[in-house]
Amino acid sequence: MSDILKKTHLPFSELGVSLGKEIESLFRQVLDKANEEAKSIGSPEDLESFRVRWIGRKNSVLSRIQDNWLVLAPSEQKKWVGTFFNSYKNEIINLVDYHKKAVEVLETEVPARRATDFDLSLPGVIHPTGSHHLIRQVLQELEDIFFSIGFSIVEGPEIETPYYNFEALNIPEFHPVRDDMDTFYIDLPKGAATPLLLRTHTSPMQIRTMEKQKPPVRVIVPGKVYRRDNPDATHSFMFHQVEGLAVDTDITFCDFTGTIEYFVKQFFGSGVKTRFRPSYFPFTEPSVEFDVSCIFCGGSGNAPGGGVCSKCKGAGWIELFGAGMVDPAVYGFVNYDAKKVSGFAFGMGIDRLAMLKYGIDDIQVFFQNDVRFLRQFP
Ligand code: FA5
Repeated sequence: MSDILKKTHLPFSELGVSLGKEIESLFRQVLDKANEEAKSIGSPEDLESFRVRWIGRKNSVLSRIQDNWLVLAPSEQKKWVGTFFNSYKNEIINLVDYHKKAVEVLETEVPARRATDFDLSLPGVIHPTGSHHLIRQVLQELEDIFFSIGFSIVEGPEIETPYYNFEALNIPEFHPVRDDMDTFYIDLPKGAATPLLLRTHTSPMQIRTMEKQKPPVRVIVPGKVYRRDNPDATHSFMFHQVEGLAVDTDITFCDFTGTIEYFVKQFFGSGVKTRFRPSYFPFTEPSVEFDVSCIFCGGSGNAPGGGVCSKCKGAGWIELFGAGMVDPAVYGFVNYDAKKVSGFAFGMGIDRLAMLKYGIDDIQVFFQNDVRFLRQFP
């Protein structure tokens, strides 16, 4: 029992109060206590026991205060005690009335509302279920294929330093290849230690992975990349790549071609033909571009209704991605012994892979979020 309620059992002379202010404070404490207890009223039963306890006829807090404080108060304080007693009584009666109404609402309206919520005769609400975006589905497919041949999956930051995006990949400042990859730089406060940029390819993760891990390394790195390319049917300023890197003591060009061909056959089917063409990347040597026979014209270069195939422009081949054997200069940036290790790397544009596989002729549809397009790939 709280202290103030214990005091209601005492005659007024034992309370040690005489001034009007002190008497008021005493009643205020009792009312605070009543208000506090009233907060837990949630049913008619709670309300009735609250009423009996606080203003009931026998042995309630009110009856005790009347018998011990009001009746036994000395005549000079009786006026004060009487005033506060009456206002106390009215406040508690109001409190009971207020909670009576609240309980009635709880008892009638809320169950009625609940009954409507669960009215089984009403038609059901259909919540449309989403599905993975086609790019996510293609990424998943790629991850499964490489995972099945021993590659693990790592991810890296989309905001990079020029060191990881360029320099450690053997692309020094003023190297012409930087022009092809012109990108978005982040506005930083003056005097910032190093510029930051949105990565132009997933290749920086070659460096970050080799810095953390000694050979053997077999990873793929899916993620978003950014370039200041003008949007058209095959270019977007933001697109997706998957980087691949395998480094060990005895990796040869044959391991490289075998891995890539395995992937392409798994992804496009066994009917597709593949070829390598010489190319140039500062961080691979030799470097290649990897082409697949055009899946739209079957590699003939001819459109079904006559004329040249618009997808491969009559070549019969479509460029898929860049790749090559890791340039020994790159190992110097990660403290690998270039005489002891060798490896290959590749960087695929996922959006273009998805376009080829699903016959989509405009890369922009991936980013427009038109549900009529998205629903075709549940
Ligand atoms: C690179 O990005 C190299 N990092 C790839 C690489 C990795 C080479 C490892 C050697 C070793 P490239 O700039 O060619 O290379 O881009 C790779 C692929 O990204 C392209 O083949 C293409 O499929 C895709 N791509 C490039 N630019 C865009 C763009 N603006 N929009 C959509 N896809 C693009």
